Amino acid sequence: MKISFANLAVPKAGAVVVCVLEGRKLTDSAQAIDDATGGALTRAIKASTFKGAKHHSLTVMTPGGRLSRVVCMGLGKAKEVDALALQDLGGRIVSTLKAHATSAQVLVDDIEGCELKAHEMAAEVALGARLGSYAFDKYKTKKKAHDTPLLRDVKFYCKLSAKAQALFAPQDKVADGVFFTRDLVSEPSNVLYPETLAEQAKTLSKMGIKVEVLSQAQMKRLGMGALLGVAQGSAHEPKLVVMHYNGKPTRKGAKAAKADQPVAFIGKGVTFDSGGISIKPSAGMEDMKWDMGGAGVVIGLMKALAGRKAKVNAVGVVGLVENMPSGTAQRPGDIVTSMSGQTIEVLNTDAEGRLVLADALWYTKERFNPHTMIDLATLTGAIMVALGSHYAGLFSNDDDFAWELIKAGREVDERVWSLPLGPEYDKMINSSVADMQNIGERWGGSITAAQFLKRFVGDTKWAHLDIAGVTWSKAGKPVAPKGGTGFGVRLLDRWVANQLEK
Ligand code: BES
Ligand code: MN
Ligand code: ZN
Repeated sequence: MKISFANLAVPKAGAVVVCVLEGRKLTDSAQAIDDATGGALTRAIKASTFKGAKHHSLTVMTPGGRLSRVVCMGLGKAKEVDALALQDLGGRIVSTLKAHATSAQVLVDDIEGCELKAHEMAAEVALGARLGSYAFDKYKTKKKAHDTPLLRDVKFYCKLSAKAQALFAPQDKVADGVFFTRDLVSEPSNVLYPETLAEQAKTLSKMGIKVEVLSQAQMKRLGMGALLGVAQGSAHEPKLVVMHYNGKPTRKGAKAAKADQPVAFIGKGVTFDSGGISIKPSAGMEDMKWDMGGAGVVIGLMKALAGRKAKVNAVGVVGLVENMPSGTAQRPGDIVTSMSGQTIEVLNTDAEGRLVLADALWYTKERFNPHTMIDLATLTGAIMVALGSHYAGLFSNDDDFAWELIKAGREVDERVWSLPLGPEYDKMINSSVADMQNIGERWGGSITAAQFLKRFVGDTKWAHLDIAGVTWSKAGKPVAPKGGTGFGVRLLDRWVANQLEK
């Protein structure tokens, strides 16, 4: 979908979108359209239940002149119009019009009582429209007219449109990253497996990201017994992908300082999680194609950062494996040695994500000495029991850092909720025969999983995001249609902007 900006004008033809505040209060552009159509908007509004409330809209057909339709979008109360409300509005504009028009003209005005200026508002609405326009339909060979989005062009009209365009441009790059993540998460596991996912990551090299792909043999030499144990039942070779983005190169002559250490993002990339020998029930197992969601976010995030030329040094590391039952598969009771040297008794082969991350985290810490590590993983069903699908679980060894993530999440509506870590939980994964076991007891399953990861991060400032409940949406919302959400890309992009680009 093409998004563009132009200075405020009253369109004479085509489909138009205007905003109406609560109490049937027309914005300036809505008033101008009303005047130009002999009062068609006020008449239609009077004859309807539409009063300008948030999330409500009214479409006025053939209102006069050559206008095909005018969509009145409810803004609610002026003082409640903020960035998130406007993004939501943008998504709603797309879903309202997508089957009805090939192009749309959205008129955005200054509003008394709203903190944002019209050009800032336009940029937010545009971002929401872009995010809401996503569709994964590449495997539909017989597209029916009614499910093919027609909308291709959306033009935003506002004062200072060049400024709106400038505000939108970097966010458009972030949306590119979100879309890449959504694409990866949506692909089925016969198409997307470690090797092909690594190839997808490699496409980032054209953006100036250095991409390395470690083979099984290389991982063996590094001693990654935990990750390799998960992969050993699969016909697909595991891969470890390392992505380097240097947006803030080391100052010449300066001694490598703390400021030059990278931030590291680590992702669980289980391209299919059957559970292995501890096999999952068949109902719903198809969902496990998106068990590489953490890796998908890391790859999309790297794309977003490079796309908007973020002033940051970042590494992304994703552990890619397929978890399958077979004659070569890992058995319950097996003991593996991780790269850290710590041994793990694998009591349940379905608790595989933490095994993959154990080696990916340790490798990242040892090789890059990052100032901060953030891992993302569709790690536990238990986090869905705790938080449903509206918050991701957050675990960290640093409270101030956790608050930074909570704040960034609120700003972009990818919210995270902090859960505890502690020695009581750590004790639950001690093993009688190895240094640890890969599951605790039934209760507190997300916490014992996080506690397990913590044993592989040393003293590094670290956070773990359990995104099992938020990676895939059955319901969808205006800025994230049904399916892969890309949750985490905007959150971490915002955290980088807030904390590392100051
Ligand atoms: N990938 C799953 C977690 C998951 C479940 C993600 C549902 C998304 C939706 C993970 O590998 C897993 O199987 N976890 C087990 C852990 C258990 C064996 C301790 C779980 O949550 O049941
Ligand atoms: Mn599993
Ligand atoms: Zn899994």
